[in-house]
Amino acid sequence: MNFSDSEIVASILEKEGFDSTKDIRDANMIFINTCSIRDHAEQRIRKRLEYMQSLKKKNPQLVIGMLGCMAERLKTQLLEEEQMLDLIVGPDSYRDLPRLMAEVESGKKAVNTLLSIDETYADISPMRYDSNGISAFISIMRGCENFCAYCVVPYVRGQERSRDAASITQEAEALFHKGFREVTLLGQNVNSYHWTWDGKEIGFAALLEKVAQINPLLRIRFATSHPKDLSDELLQTMAQYKNICKTIHLPMQSGSTRVLDHMNRGYTHSQYLERIVAIRSFLPDCAISTDIIAGFCDETEDDHKKTLSLMEQVGFDYAFMFRYSERPDTLAADRYQDNVPPEVKDRRLREIIDLQQKLSYQSNKKDVGNTFEVLIEDFSKRSKAFFSGRNSQNKVVVFPITGNNPGDYISVKINRFTSATLIGEAS
Ligand code: 5AD
Ligand code: SF4
Repeated sequence: MNFSDSEIVASILEKEGFDSTKDIRDANMIFINTCSIRDHAEQRIRKRLEYMQSLKKKNPQLVIGMLGCMAERLKTQLLEEEQMLDLIVGPDSYRDLPRLMAEVESGKKAVNTLLSIDETYADISPMRYDSNGISAFISIMRGCENFCAYCVVPYVRGQERSRDAASITQEAEALFHKGFREVTLLGQNVNSYHWTWDGKEIGFAALLEKVAQINPLLRIRFATSHPKDLSDELLQTMAQYKNICKTIHLPMQSGSTRVLDHMNRGYTHSQYLERIVAIRSFLPDCAISTDIIAGFCDETEDDHKKTLSLMEQVGFDYAFMFRYSERPDTLAADRYQDNVPPEVKDRRLREIIDLQQKLSYQSNKKDVGNTFEVLIEDFSKRSKAFFSGRNSQNKVVVFPITGNNPGDYISVKINRFTSATLIGEAS
């Protein structure tokens, strides 16, 4: 989501005549794109800002700006109290950047963090400045209004809004013609995408189908699916098109219905499991990944065991696992006590990570002997004698180079694996 925002900002700045540089020490202007979702992310950004202050000491003309969610959340503190920044722009105000930059040039501090109900940047073609030329992200929605109790996103990114469907398919088509072979459609909850196209209401499944029809050689991925909204219609569409990748990111957060209710997630343990059963029946070879939070308010040992047992039952291929961190202004911060002791949170997170390592190992092990269609992305980071790409299930596959090029599809038979990679040979 954030990366996609940086590409929009880069495009706006390019139109203003700015160039980008890969070496931060060459820059006259630095924008740091920020995320407020977990406290850890904010701490890291503060460290980066301190480093940038040291650059500014050497070059007093240097302009330092902040984009994104943290800008929205901490504008007053960062601008006035800490004097760290020259410019702050929230996620719905990037179009205002040229005016803000003119203000900075005239010696003022500039800020715009207004949230909007309709800004989707639909007409801005993002600049793919840090891309392998094969895969790209396309933002299809902005904001979120699910108000999960722990989550700051609805406050910092505003109301949910979908982007014009025609502009999405046009962007995907243009990328395909430039040689891109994979697009990932992004939104906080893609399943609630909706748009009226030629007088007809279309939902996410219909949008996905339209993108899949651009060309069979264009792969499509998407994230994130909210379990309460994942429809059978979407699973059917995925089954129908080979170029829609067989992988679903379905954040479970907890395996305990009591905690899920507390989190305001809108589904129970058995409803989550029912969606997993549906995925497996429509898409037997689909990889499933998830997000899990350890130590949410009032989480008991029994709740934690339910999380471990649901993980085992599903057998996730991959998971992002977090220790609960209270975020200011959220429902949980207002209503609940952050009362699971830090050492208990850490131990539970450790147990979750250990279990996931076992599950990921099992998931990779069952791939040995199988053949996958791999989209070649680049040489392997370790050796130019190997190509690296991914299969439909989003696993990294490494194999000895062939006469092919990045962007080509190739069948690879898997011989062995490491924790993060399948290793094979062209078959
Ligand atoms: N503490 C810990 N993890 C969080 N997430 C969101 N907010 C918090 C928080 N306050 C995690 C959720 C979400 C992922 C993007 O980040 O698991 O799905
Ligand atoms: Fe946050 Fe919930 Fe929205 Fe995801 S669905 S962004 S966790 S509020």
